Amino acid sequence: MNDTTLLSGTNLVKTFRTSQRSSAAQVLTALDRVSIQVTVGETVGIAGESGCGKSTLAKVMCGLMEPDSGEVSYRGGNLKQLSREEHTIFRRSTQMIFQDPFSSLNPRLRIGDSIAEPLQIADIPPDGQRAEVARLMNIVGLNREASNRFPDEFSGGQRQRIGIARALAARPEILIADEPVSSLDISIQAQIINLLLQMKSDLNLSMMIISHNLLVLHHICDRIMVMYLGAIVESAPAASLFRRCRHPYTEALIAAIPGLATPAGATTERLSDDIPSALAIPSGCRFHPRCRHAEDICHHTPPPLVEYAPNHTSACHFSTQLYG
Ligand SMILES: Nc1ncnc2c1ncn2[C@@H]1O[C@H](COP(=O)(O)OP(=O)(O)O)[C@@H](O)[C@H]1O
Ligand code: SF4
Ligand SMILES: [Mg+2]
Repeated sequence: MNDTTLLSGTNLVKTFRTSQRSSAAQVLTALDRVSIQVTVGETVGIAGESGCGKSTLAKVMCGLMEPDSGEVSYRGGNLKQLSREEHTIFRRSTQMIFQDPFSSLNPRLRIGDSIAEPLQIADIPPDGQRAEVARLMNIVGLNREASNRFPDEFSGGQRQRIGIARALAARPEILIADEPVSSLDISIQAQIINLLLQMKSDLNLSMMIISHNLLVLHHICDRIMVMYLGAIVESAPAASLFRRCRHPYTEALIAAIPGLATPAGATTERLSDDIPSALAIPSGCRFHPRCRHAEDICHHTPPPLVEYAPNHTSACHFSTQLYG
């Protein structure tokens, strides 16, 4: 951890039992010793196919879910050891944005009142609340008159703007956005991506953005971490990841992006759709059943995460041979 680390997770493990009946219970590993750091003003992307543990990581990092082991720290303090007052500050400072903002908005509350809720909790007087709601609506590109309307009168993109305004009302230091544009039309996605970029530069917010879409993360993030079956397999500055990734899984994800020119020599082979179950994580390198480069060692020896270039780590036995 360095001085500017705002939120960090160390060796996070999270398992789920698939059945309450102990005789039939199976243990599913959603997070397998995941470590992550988000520094002040940094935007970190979490990529990976559906089911790889992204949402679980988001919930653990914002304190909504407890890990089985490992620790989450906010400004260097283990969440479990924060005082009540420090915990209140943590909850306010760490705000979530969801894929479907409609589900987190009260349908009977005018959106101006929804956005003002965190301000009421902070005991801001009514005049101050109105001014702040107007300021937040302006930041997210919503018309001020819209504050008297109800959530069902808005489109998906506008609702996401409302969700973001509500999150900003708490004056957070870090936003954790779980698939913030996945449910939106492509043209609207671009608008929300631009809004997040704008906020990043204007508000000096830290962000953790989760998406199964690497291209979305490439647009917004400073650094991208790629997850596979509950583990981080590669982490790098966004530009380096796209210029020269160092893990066959990342390579396959990049190759699957339509219309993107892949570097010379990179694979154009599609990943098979048969993702192994998190109930039976493959031995050795967990990616080996789908990896076109797998050799004997990959079947039985897990590759460690190794730093191959500044801030660029990869968990592959053949990273150097394959990517230089
Ligand atoms: N509450 C839960 N109970 C049981 N299994 C869960 C629960 N939440 C997530 N999982 C399982 O954990 C794994 C990771 O899920 P999730 O974090 O939602 O992945 P992602 O967001 O990348 O799609 C999946 O196999 C999923 O089925
Ligand atoms: S360790 Fe082996 S199986 Fe895993 S990604 Fe590297 S080459 Fe593929
Ligand atoms: Mg998810």
